[in-house]
Amino acid sequence: MTSWPSAESKKRLLLGVTGGVAAYKAAELARLLTQNGMHVQTVMTQAACRFVGAVTFQSLTGNPVYTDLWDANAAQNMAHINLSRDAGLILVAPASADFIAKLAHGMADDLLTTLCLARDCPLMIAPAMNRQMWENPATQRNLSRLRQDGIIITGPASGEQACGEVGMGRMLEAAELAEIVQAAFRTATLLQGKNILVTAGPTFEAIDAVRGITNRSSGKMGYAVARAAVEAGAAVTLISGPVCLTPPAAAKFIPVTSAEDMLRAVQTEIAQTDIFISVAAVADYRVAHVSQQKIKKSAANLALELVPTPDILKTVSSLPKPPFCVGFAAETENLEKNAAMKRRKKNVPLLVANLAQDAIGSDESELILFDDTGQHILPKASKMEQARRLIKHIHRLYSQQH
Ligand code: C5P
Repeated sequence: MTSWPSAESKKRLLLGVTGGVAAYKAAELARLLTQNGMHVQTVMTQAACRFVGAVTFQSLTGNPVYTDLWDANAAQNMAHINLSRDAGLILVAPASADFIAKLAHGMADDLLTTLCLARDCPLMIAPAMNRQMWENPATQRNLSRLRQDGIIITGPASGEQACGEVGMGRMLEAAELAEIVQAAFRTATLLQGKNILVTAGPTFEAIDAVRGITNRSSGKMGYAVARAAVEAGAAVTLISGPVCLTPPAAAKFIPVTSAEDMLRAVQTEIAQTDIFISVAAVADYRVAHVSQQKIKKSAANLALELVPTPDILKTVSSLPKPPFCVGFAAETENLEKNAAMKRRKKNVPLLVANLAQDAIGSDESELILFDDTGQHILPKASKMEQARRLIKHIHRLYSQQH
């Protein structure tokens, strides 16, 4: 679903406007982007038309405005497909609580929701609503679903609201949104033509037919990195241990179970890989003799013989012509010392470190990047935001070497 823009769609924005006072800011946004050379195609919901007239957007963008799923003028009545196919990015600003709820549930009962569902380009939303609507668990649940689906959520800000209350829910200002949209279009081609291989999640090392050794890695960081790489225009392959996450639709997805499986999958892909990002929490040991049957309980102690698993990252970084390798290190103590040491041991140009107790399973993390120039702190943010920052850092280092 989220394949980033082709050359023709590079500068084409589909601007969705839903019902909210902030719709007037969307008109200013349309003006700013059009002035900066972007092709802006507006789609308004019925509720949006109550706040601002379609003619306003038509005049500011120089393009017809669509409001109706049943527009007989659109080719074969396929406005919902055609509009999203032409766009490099869809931005919905303002995105009302109602629209967010519909999006989270895959509803398609008007032109805007239908074309969001039928899109093959990234979708960004700029929420705007009363602070209590924003804080409502239903809205937060819907937003969390959208984040998991790879939808980019920008804002809202805190401040005075149209209803007179003060709090979270103000849509970002038009100038800020214009900058964000332009940056998204710039990012979209950063890694175009590059093959990126990401490993994610834990591995599962069988003990017997039903039991195994694993760890608490949720896979969230690795999946976020894969999404950010897709957003940056790369061709992404995601090799993942067992997790409960949906992989980005545009990535090639290879599910695996054990460290040995993961190594095999990596070896199959590595020849075509430009950048290898090893986020997976690979088990360090596996059981030497896996019982084919469930081991029966007895009163006696049970000893399992553990043997080391292959170090996948080290195997790749030791290849005669390795791709650009990025390692991750989750440490529980002495983060900086251990991470710097690990970078040397693994022989990788970039190592990303975090404190395991903060990062595992959480939606947020603070990261420290270790490379030849020293340390770079990425202050606490959502894993998706950290992944985007990381991809930009990787792009900088990679372009210096190539
Ligand atoms: O040695 P440690 O497990 O802390 O190293 C972490 C880094 O090495 C991560 O990037 C992880 O994906 C990778 N790794 C690996 N194969 C292993 C163990 C770790 O690729 N067997």
